[in-house]
Amino acid sequence: MAYPSSVRIVEVGARDGLQNEVSVTTAQKIKLIEALAKAGLRNIEAGAFVSPKWVPQMADSMDVITALTLPDHVELSALTPNLKGAELAVQSGVKEFAIFTAASEAFTQKNINCSIKESIERFLPVMELAKAHNIRVRGYVSCVVGCPYQGEVEPHQVLEVCKQLLALGCYEISLGDTVGVGTPNKVERLLDLLLQHIPSDKLAVHFHDTYGQALTNIHKALEMGISVIDSAVAGLGGCPYAKGASGNVATEDVIYLLEGLGISTGIDLERLASAGWEICRALNKKPVSKVSLALQSKCSA
Ligand code: HMG
Ligand code: MG
Repeated sequence: MAYPSSVRIVEVGARDGLQNEVSVTTAQKIKLIEALAKAGLRNIEAGAFVSPKWVPQMADSMDVITALTLPDHVELSALTPNLKGAELAVQSGVKEFAIFTAASEAFTQKNINCSIKESIERFLPVMELAKAHNIRVRGYVSCVVGCPYQGEVEPHQVLEVCKQLLALGCYEISLGDTVGVGTPNKVERLLDLLLQHIPSDKLAVHFHDTYGQALTNIHKALEMGISVIDSAVAGLGGCPYAKGASGNVATEDVIYLLEGLGISTGIDLERLASAGWEICRALNKKPVSKVSLALQSKCSA
């Protein structure tokens, strides 16, 4: 089986992971991101310039991002749903925007209060601003296999939205299984179609683990040539507009899988796990990462 020779991890714990959590302070977020960078993560989604009325948990993104002390090789990104968000993101100094829409009309309405078509129109000035500031733009498509409001989503619906985001100028599309309902056959069916139209190096996978399928779905995507994986330390996460959806696949579990497949990641698993434990202590919960729990019990044995 030919797996990609290297994989890029996009760590989304500080954004996707914490956007549902009310009890995290700005200082704890800063500490988390700096610890993730020390563990070797190079691509870190650090916050979201979204409406604080919609997602108050991300209201301190400017304070978090501007306070960070990080090595030069670490690239930060932030969600920018509209021009206002993009202007704030420029001010924060991030070098990457992430725009987000969905393959489901109902989810798009609930999440960003507009239709898919309107979301694409909103992104036009965001793309212009990005170009003017030499900022790259990543595109998210949510609900790529299923929607919490509409049920099954067909691959051709996903393809349509991916094409529009690529035409806008996104360098990469991250495919979100927002509610974690995918299984490997569904991922295969989706990628079979997408890869007929889009090169594999323009696609990333962003799988939530609600039904425990994220790792097996990632393995399928790796087999099909995908080499960018989004994940969240300790398996933190969820979406405020996808009730019942649990966290992203845990970064610790993805790293363990990749190393086991012979794909080196340059990430220090123990440092990563300890960053996860620290933020989980702040949240008063345990990591959902099995690898993290296993490492912990090995250390305390
Ligand atoms: P709206 O209410 O339609 O926007 O929200 P509006 O333009 O009418 O503005 C309403 C108010 O919000 C105004 O303030 C604006 O200034 C303000 P007021 O005049 O009432 O005082 N506002 C903003 N403030 C700060 N930053 C901004 C901003 N924009 C407007 N950027 C909007 C539309 C898109 C803003 C809103 O729906 C929103 O913020 N949605 C974000 C929802 C969100 O963050 N969801 C979670 C992230 S997506 C996700 O988790 C999925 C993903 O992980 C992939 C996957 O798993 O599938 C990425
Ligand atoms: Mg997500």
